Amino acid sequence: MSGNLVADTVAAETLGTALRRGGYSEDAVYRLLGDDAYSSERGDTPTDERRLPQTPAATLVRLFFLQLGVTTEEAEAALGRSGVDALEATGLAEIGDQVIPRARLLPIGKLLLASDGFSRDVDDPADYVATYTPTARVLDSLTPRPRVERALDVGTGSGIHALLAAQHAGRVIATDVNPRALAYTTLNAALNGIHNVKCRQGSLFEPVEGETFGLITCNAPYVISPETRWVYRDSEFSEDEVSERVLLSAAEHLADDGYAAMLVSWIALDEKAPDERVIGWTEASGCNSWILSTMNSDPLTHAAEWNSHLVGEALGDALDEWARYFDELGVELVSEGAVILHKRSGGGHSSRVDELDEEDLDDAGDQILRAFEARARLEELPSDKALLEERIGVASSLRLERELEPAGGRAVDVEGSVDLADGTKHAVDASADVQEVIASLDSRLRLSEVVDTTADRLGFDDEEIEALREEAVEVTRELLELGALRFRGD
Ligand SMILES: C[S@@+](CC[C@H](N)C(=O)[O-])C[C@H]1O[C@@H](n2cnc3c(N)ncnc32)[C@H](O)[C@@H]1O
Repeated sequence: MSGNLVADTVAAETLGTALRRGGYSEDAVYRLLGDDAYSSERGDTPTDERRLPQTPAATLVRLFFLQLGVTTEEAEAALGRSGVDALEATGLAEIGDQVIPRARLLPIGKLLLASDGFSRDVDDPADYVATYTPTARVLDSLTPRPRVERALDVGTGSGIHALLAAQHAGRVIATDVNPRALAYTTLNAALNGIHNVKCRQGSLFEPVEGETFGLITCNAPYVISPETRWVYRDSEFSEDEVSERVLLSAAEHLADDGYAAMLVSWIALDEKAPDERVIGWTEASGCNSWILSTMNSDPLTHAAEWNSHLVGEALGDALDEWARYFDELGVELVSEGAVILHKRSGGGHSSRVDELDEEDLDDAGDQILRAFEARARLEELPSDKALLEERIGVASSLRLERELEPAGGRAVDVEGSVDLADGTKHAVDASADVQEVIASLDSRLRLSEVVDTTADRLGFDDEEIEALREEAVEVTRELLELGALRFRGD
């Protein structure tokens, strides 16, 4: 028992079955509350409540999505008596004449996820357990999902990444310092009929000393600040130490060919070298790494962002305190982002840094796997030129962008790029001629053959052919490293 929660897994499994039988799903939420249902906040509840009809499915949305009370009769009509008993047994609601939810329980994809209710900002308790937040979504989208024997989720919170890993891992360990987080994770596994997730309480990797995993996930409590107010946000470590520890420990705990996906943050003492520290950590990790920086800001902007729940004097005091903290450390920039590590059996530890727009991110797990596979193959090539002899195909949807300007009545190319239409949505600068090469790729042909045929079609002379080859190699390499193209046979 942790607070009101009772880790009664039999009751949670019964409740999960009752919820599914009652039609509680993402589709039902969207149907009843509209496309923006998941971005609504506490203040939107009165409006949302009034959208709901009097049906059993709407009762479930009212109870669990909006976290509002219903009569016991209504709850029984939607969940059955056994479902209501299960709700009481888990402590997720208080049952009298009314059923009053103590938690929110959301359909997330095919999963059901219980967590503490809507945030009350400053009034949230120190051990508040959040739901599937925007950062959890970013980590989910960036997690490679190969079939693995063992997976680890560090700082599991309500357990979302552990539950997702349980779909493609033999066994999953979920760790957290917060016992309420682990109670939710245990309940959430049972709610979904998942039996291969085990919880261990402890700090970071302490509970798994000496063990290795094929996949490690961690949405770290990475916010750099002078505070230790909320366990989900503020770690007990200073500066960016929690991120360094997570990254280096993840590398130590990866099995050969294993992947780690982490959300972390890092400071820069010189704004001209914003990623120096995180690059240093990835180099020390001995793994191949991909750093995807989502944000970098000056300390005051960072402080304002993470104190947006405050107003007036309280906000001013917090900004002063945070600014003093960063000033004393000599910090010029604070960055946040994801780091993906791949431990190669044969060694190899190159780093790649890209910016990532987290608002424009789709599921990128497969893309990331392809990116690391391609990187490993590229590292084996004796030279860039050797790429011309490889057979390379297109692995994801691409969009060719060209910007033309008028010149003497004709159109002249000024800019062009090959854009990834899915996943991380990165773009690679490419002339119109190289776009032709990329559009003609065929995994049965060598890159040199594709370049030559394109040059022929465009009527190029020797010098132009050489320039086309050089640019084609450069662009192809970038697209391979981004997982948009793949070597034949991968
Ligand atoms: C940003 S939340 C992420 C929660 C969840 N994994 C997600 O993505 O929604 C960070 C989590 O790390 C946990 N945490 C904080 N300090 C920790 C530590 N030293 N060791 C392990 N977990 C910790 C918090 O309790 C919280 O659950």
